Amino acid sequence: MTIFATRAFPGTALDELKADHEVIVGGGDFASDAFSNSATRIVALITTVGDTVDDVVLDRLPKLRVVANVAVGVDNVNVAACKARGVVVTNTPDVLSEATATLAFGLLLAAARRIPEGDRFVRAGKFVGFDSGLLVGAPVFGRSLGIVGLGRIGRAMARRARGFGMRVAYAQRNRLSPDVERALGATFLSLDELFQTCDFVSLHCPLTPETRGLATAARFASMKPGSIFVNTSRGPCVDEAALARALVTGPLSAAGLDVYENEPIVEPALLTMDNVVLLPHIGSAESATRAQMADLAVRNVRAVLSGEAPISAV
Ligand code: DGY
Repeated sequence: MTIFATRAFPGTALDELKADHEVIVGGGDFASDAFSNSATRIVALITTVGDTVDDVVLDRLPKLRVVANVAVGVDNVNVAACKARGVVVTNTPDVLSEATATLAFGLLLAAARRIPEGDRFVRAGKFVGFDSGLLVGAPVFGRSLGIVGLGRIGRAMARRARGFGMRVAYAQRNRLSPDVERALGATFLSLDELFQTCDFVSLHCPLTPETRGLATAARFASMKPGSIFVNTSRGPCVDEAALARALVTGPLSAAGLDVYENEPIVEPALLTMDNVVLLPHIGSAESATRAQMADLAVRNVRAVLSGEAPISAV
């Protein structure tokens, strides 16, 4: 059977799949001749967050049975359109939770303690000796962290925060049971309260119609003076222009971003600011994690093609 992967993935999963199937690896999108020439044979797609799987793509794939997205988020896939055509959509939850939370906490620390600024300062030859006023950042230990979306990645973030003596609050549609809240050491707040009261706010929610644009100008304006915003979930959850304004005029002192509203385009104002740490959507980019993500996607493909239940269907 013919399987189209939009690109090569770390690890050996795709090579192993080649033992039993025709596996075509594209050049990072659906524009290649390799895709056009094989489209009518393709039964499975292996995609990433950068590949838009919409009606236009689906119309070209009459034999498609599964879209295995190598990501936990599936906002790049029109899931309803797939379901309407009987195409299964799968994702890669769990395997990337710790890696993504590590990067989110790294961004929190980097933004608060001005680590990239310090690195640039030294490389520019500006370090001429200890100065007690140099690159003074925001305290982290014992401060409060507001987590939007206390799912798998949010909980991994909460565990990291507890190691730094932080008070953890969370906001999401459904409140957790008191037992789970106690076990996680997390206090439930409304989204507005969370933005208003926490020293740090970090997004860990999926992109859905409900979460799109949730970080609004009004919510940024309501944050505490000196607060810090972190986003490793999805860019369109944030009004990026409003974030940039709140970083210039306050109340925010810094931000750490791994994802962008119009990826890969970054709001130009952010590119000129020293108090923003910018990363190129690398939340899950740990070697073992990336291989596990590809492996899970391939196992999902194999399951669907052999008529079994997928491991992680959306
Ligand atoms: C995900 O899994 O959704 C990430 O953003 C991709 O690494």
